[in-house]
Amino acid sequence: MASKSSIYLDNAASAPLRVEVLAAMNEAGRAEFANPSSSHGAGRKAAACVDDARQRLLVALGLDDSWRVLFTSGGTEADALAVIGRTALVVDRTRKQAAAPTVVTTVIEHPAVLGCRSILSRMGAHLEIVESDRDGHVPPAALAEAVSPHTAVLSVMHVNNELGTVQDVDSAAKLARLKNPEIMIHSDAVQSLGMLGIDTLASSVDCMSLSAHKIGGPRGVGALVLRRGIELAPLTGGGDQEEGLRPGTENLVGIVGFARAVELCRHDDSGRILGLTERLQSGIERRIDGVQFHGRVLSGHILALSIQGIGSDVLVRALSDRGVYVSSGSACHSTRKSHVAKILGLGPNWGTIRFSLSWQTTQDDVDQALDVLCAVVRDFRV
Ligand SMILES: Cc1ncc(COP(=O)(O)O)c(C=O)c1O
Repeated sequence: MASKSSIYLDNAASAPLRVEVLAAMNEAGRAEFANPSSSHGAGRKAAACVDDARQRLLVALGLDDSWRVLFTSGGTEADALAVIGRTALVVDRTRKQAAAPTVVTTVIEHPAVLGCRSILSRMGAHLEIVESDRDGHVPPAALAEAVSPHTAVLSVMHVNNELGTVQDVDSAAKLARLKNPEIMIHSDAVQSLGMLGIDTLASSVDCMSLSAHKIGGPRGVGALVLRRGIELAPLTGGGDQEEGLRPGTENLVGIVGFARAVELCRHDDSGRILGLTERLQSGIERRIDGVQFHGRVLSGHILALSIQGIGSDVLVRALSDRGVYVSSGSACHSTRKSHVAKILGLGPNWGTIRFSLSWQTTQDDVDQALDVLCAVVRDFRV
């Protein structure tokens, strides 16, 4: 757990490992030492343990057996497997056609999706990026407009990691399917897990990316959850683990921890987290002037705001020096301005920070963080 001498409000980057998860991983690490591909008894026991975790994960997500789980090294790999894996298949099947396959996505996507661009273009496919409004929402009609009969994948994230905005994936999917019934709909649900219903999202999409370390599971494990019958091509050659779509010896201990974390976060208090986020927002509104909050239709665990007269880096550093850990946006953009920061269109003297809460955040944490933020603004604003 994070030390209580500090207040950790950067859970969207990575949340602390839950003690129950650590216990489950310890137990699995001790008991399941064999390779799940080995055909002896210990190997078969390890394989059963992975399959048990797969099944428990589906149950905890509220999904039935029309869904399947491919374990990956995290959300990044799950996104790539969906976007590149599906496009590779379509490129193969449509090699003789004149028009290149496209992937339609949004400008606010995680770099795990936007970063597929160069690989897609080397494959002869094209990534079409649809703009968002200033509030971080991408209109479903604009996404559908970009979809053509040659579109292999529509990838729309559920909750944006920098703003917390929730996209209308359902409307986008319905409109896209009207234009192209063959399209595969993917959603990056890494930030929704634990806050919004994955089962509801599932009714709109063909596959979803998840990551363990945002919900108290270990880093380095995630999953692509996809409907039975949806075909992909693997990103690497190798063994036949994970239906041959994600070759390599399974990260058994991580997988067990991931399944346990999903089981625990199902019972989480998303309403309480939302209440704390609102408390933080109203406190900032009351006590600090020159603040702009970002996004509408929010997940409830992310609060992004800009403060006039202090740079993001100064804010993050000064808060950190006083024991409050937040980020200036996505952890993936620590050294350059993110695409989301760009769409906010703020002048250079506005610093943007992101608070992200979790099951372990208390009212005391929020109240103390607010006091510290007020002091930092008083001391550093120019
Ligand atoms: C929305 C979103 N997608 C994907 C990822 C990548 O997940 P991982 O760190 O497990 O690769 C993250 C993590 O920052 C994320 O927030």
